[in-house]
Amino acid sequence: MAEGREIHPAKRGMTGKIRVPGDKSVSHRSVMFSAIAKGAVRVKNFLEAADCLSTAACMRALGASVERREDDSLRVTGVGLHGLKEPAAILDAGNSGTTLRLLLGILAAQPFFSALAGDASLSRRPMGRVVEPLVRMGAAIRGRDANRFLPLAVLPREGRLRAMDYESPVASAQVKSAILLAGLYADGETTVEEPALSRDHTERMLGAFGARIRREDATVTIEPVDELFSPEEIIVPGDISSAAYWLVAASLIEGSDILLEDVGVNPTRTGILDVLSAMGADVTLSNERESGGEALADIRVRSASLRGTSFGGAIIPRLIDEIPILAVAALFAAGDTVISGAAELRVKETDRLQAVTTELNRLVPGAVEATQDGMIIHGGRAPSPAVCRTYDDHRMAMSLAVAGLAGEGVTLDAPACVNISYPSFYQTMDRLVQ
Ligand code: S3P
Repeated sequence: MAEGREIHPAKRGMTGKIRVPGDKSVSHRSVMFSAIAKGAVRVKNFLEAADCLSTAACMRALGASVERREDDSLRVTGVGLHGLKEPAAILDAGNSGTTLRLLLGILAAQPFFSALAGDASLSRRPMGRVVEPLVRMGAAIRGRDANRFLPLAVLPREGRLRAMDYESPVASAQVKSAILLAGLYADGETTVEEPALSRDHTERMLGAFGARIRREDATVTIEPVDELFSPEEIIVPGDISSAAYWLVAASLIEGSDILLEDVGVNPTRTGILDVLSAMGADVTLSNERESGGEALADIRVRSASLRGTSFGGAIIPRLIDEIPILAVAALFAAGDTVISGAAELRVKETDRLQAVTTELNRLVPGAVEATQDGMIIHGGRAPSPAVCRTYDDHRMAMSLAVAGLAGEGVTLDAPACVNISYPSFYQTMDRLVQ
C-alpha cells in the first residue's frame, strides 16, 4: 500500500504571501486551442500537473508541438483547425474529465479514427452527456454501455458536422465547451443553453483566437470558422480552486493573515468568495486587473469566526469544485450549513457528496448528513484526530488536509493524488504552518 501522510494541527497562524499554481481549466484550454490554431504561442504559468500534462500529451499525439521552455513557459505550435493527424495510439486522458470531454468535441469533427481511454475514476464518469449532443451533430462515437462510458472510439467524419441548438440538462462547462468546439467545424451557428451559467473560459479564450462567439445570459452561440489564430502569449492566472484551500485554512486557523497573489477571479468562478463572505470571513481583493480577457486580483485573508449559511441554485456552477473545502469551513463554523442543488458532485472524480459526508463524520461523528442533492453540516462541534480516505481524489485530499490543520490532525490514506492539480500543495502547507 502507498504510504499515508500525517497532518498535524497548525501550531500557529498562517502568514506570508502565496502564489498558487496556474488555473487548471485555463491551462487545458491554452494547450488544446493553441494546438488547433495557426501559429506559435508562449503559455506562461501553465499548470504542470497531471491533468494538464494529459492534455499536452494528447495534443502531441494529434500532431501539435508542445515544448517546455527553459523559462518554464510552454511553447505550443499549432497545426491549424484542419491539420490534426490520426493518432497512432489510444489517447489517454488519465484522471482528467476536461481533457476527455473537450477533446471529444474536436475529434467528433475529424476525418480520422481516434480512441480514448482514462484511469479507473474517469472510466466510471458519465460521457453520454457529451456523446449524445455530438451524435446529434452527426458524429459517430462508440463506447462501452451504449456509448455512455470509456473506452470510446470516434469514427472518421467526412464533411462538416451539423449545426445545432442545444438545451443542456446540466450546467457543465465541459459539455458546453465540447459542443462549442464541435461548432467550430459545423455547417452553421451552434447554440448551447445552460440551466445556469458555468465557467466561461472557453468562450473568452476562443474569442482571443479569433472565433466569433457571443453570449446572452446562459446561452452561447458560436459561428464556424476556417481557421483560428494564436495570440503571441497566454498568461494563465492563479487557480482560485487551489487558492480555496488557503482561503479556508487561513479563515479557520487563528492568527492567520495571508496574501494570495495573482489569483483568477473570473466571475463564473468566484462563488466561494461570496459564500465565505456570507459566513463572516475576512477576505479582501486588491490590485484587481485584467489579463488576456480574464480577471485577476490579490486576495488577503485573515482569520475570522465563521457562521453557517445556506447556498444552492445558480451559484453552484460558480463553486462546484470548492464544495468539499466549503464543507470543511462549515464543519468549523457556528451553526448549520445547508447545501442544495449540488447533485453534480456525485459524478466528479469520486462521489463527493458521499465521500465528504463519510470522511468529515470520521473527524466529527454525526456532523454531516448527505441529502439527495447536497449536505447539511452541523458546525462548531469538537473534532478528533482520524484516519481518512482520499478516494484518490485531489480535492478530497486537500480539503481533508485543511480539516486536519484546523482541527486535531488527520492521516490521509492516499495523499499523492494532489499531483492532479496542485503538486506543491504539501510543501506550501508545511511552509505556512510549521
Ligand atoms: C471544468 C468544469 C467543471 C469542473 C472541472 C473543470 C472545466 O466540470 O468541475 O473541474 O475546466 O471545464 P463540469 O463541466 O463537468 O461541471
